[in-house]
Amino acid sequence: MEVENKHFIIHTYGCQMNVHDSEILAGMLGQMGYSQTSKEEEADIILINTCTIRDKAEQKVFGKLGALKKLKEEKPNLIVGICGCMSQQEEVAEKIKKSYRHVDLLFGTHNVHQLPEMIKKILFNNERVFEIWEKEGEVVEGLPQQRNEGVSAWVTITYGCNNFCTYCIVPYVRGRERSRKPEDIVEETKRLASEGFKEITLLGQNVNSYGKDFDESYDFADLIKDLDDIEGIERIRYMTSHPRDFTDKLVDVIANSKKVCNHFHLPVQAGSNTVLKKMNRGYTREEYLELVGKIKKSMGHVAITTDLIVGFPGETEEDFQATLDLVSQVRFDSAFTFAYSPRTGTPAAKMEEQVRKEDKSRRLTALIDLQNQISKEINEGSYLGNTFTVLVEGPSKNNPDFLSGRTTTNKLVNFSAPSNESLVGQIVKVKIIEAQTWSLLGEVVL
Ligand code: 5AD
Ligand code: SF4
Repeated sequence: MEVENKHFIIHTYGCQMNVHDSEILAGMLGQMGYSQTSKEEEADIILINTCTIRDKAEQKVFGKLGALKKLKEEKPNLIVGICGCMSQQEEVAEKIKKSYRHVDLLFGTHNVHQLPEMIKKILFNNERVFEIWEKEGEVVEGLPQQRNEGVSAWVTITYGCNNFCTYCIVPYVRGRERSRKPEDIVEETKRLASEGFKEITLLGQNVNSYGKDFDESYDFADLIKDLDDIEGIERIRYMTSHPRDFTDKLVDVIANSKKVCNHFHLPVQAGSNTVLKKMNRGYTREEYLELVGKIKKSMGHVAITTDLIVGFPGETEEDFQATLDLVSQVRFDSAFTFAYSPRTGTPAAKMEEQVRKEDKSRRLTALIDLQNQISKEINEGSYLGNTFTVLVEGPSKNNPDFLSGRTTTNKLVNFSAPSNESLVGQIVKVKIIEAQTWSLLGEVVL
């Protein structure tokens, strides 16, 4: 089936995994003849790729869905579709089916590859289509993917998660861990290099457990070694790693790699051993600190960033203080901070002693204040006045006269340069002349 002069929009919420799925969905729609548009009134298909990690994410999607009702009334042939993590939850899927009658299509995270047949069903049979596999299938390779051109690309290496942290919905909506074959990842990376990409970020809920599902022994460290040799790729990043699975071998391989960046995103979640245990994180505060020490020792100048949750059930003021103490001790470069949000179906949602909303907010504010202060101090103390290599990504978002890029430690740098365009995709030296909490300002050094 090939359509003509038809358009689609995909609204993507949530994490990079969803961004990746949206690129595949866009690729398949492109192959069917649909072209992308940014105007809703021009669209024949509107897909909402949803996130359910916290309640706020879900509310945003319901808001968006409500707003589309009027458009569907005006344009009955419009296909409104919902996919992503929310559709994978039974009660949410039921609610959408029943109460949002303007939704024509609902499919789960394991059904992405079936989009073309689902669209055909709607068009030819004029019926609503709901397709949600509860269980993941094999990794599907070879689907078309519509990537935006650029300097930096995401490469998925694992799907799903086996960790079952007690607060987290991901293992329920994304299924068990599955690793892509090394040869498929290497081939994709070579292709990206030949298309001009300079940086790849290896993507998975827990990249460190890459390869655990293989019969032969081949792990994340082995994959990095193989990718390190690919010509044209200058930098390798990865997201997200679990502190429990960060082996000495991996620290060693990263320290000796030519291309892996000096940035470690190591979500710690909490500083109290009692809370870490209840979260089922699989490490203690002391083990986490030991890992950070090992990394700092073997890598020289590094940036360490993290994810933190406040207000996990049963978290006392003392537990929270332990998180603040840990933050002060590690001195993270930056942190994603969250108030705990109960997710139906996860063990933590059923735990007693849920923390009051006011306490969560107060703790979150205190944590953000402390982290912001540390981020600024690090940027002023270690970056201001010094020169760093920056991979130039393009014009700065806030000021088109400036370029922007990142240091290997993942600091965002906006900087001035004599001539702009020709530097995109290059690694240049930038002297930092102003340090802010979230970014750095600099000028290129020729
Ligand atoms: N409530 C708050 N934050 C959460 N995260 C995951 N689940 C929840 C939840 N229920 C956070 C964790 C994780 C990040 C992606 O989102 O910090 O690392
Ligand atoms: Fe969720 Fe834990 Fe898996 Fe991360 S490791 S996706 S926090 S269950």
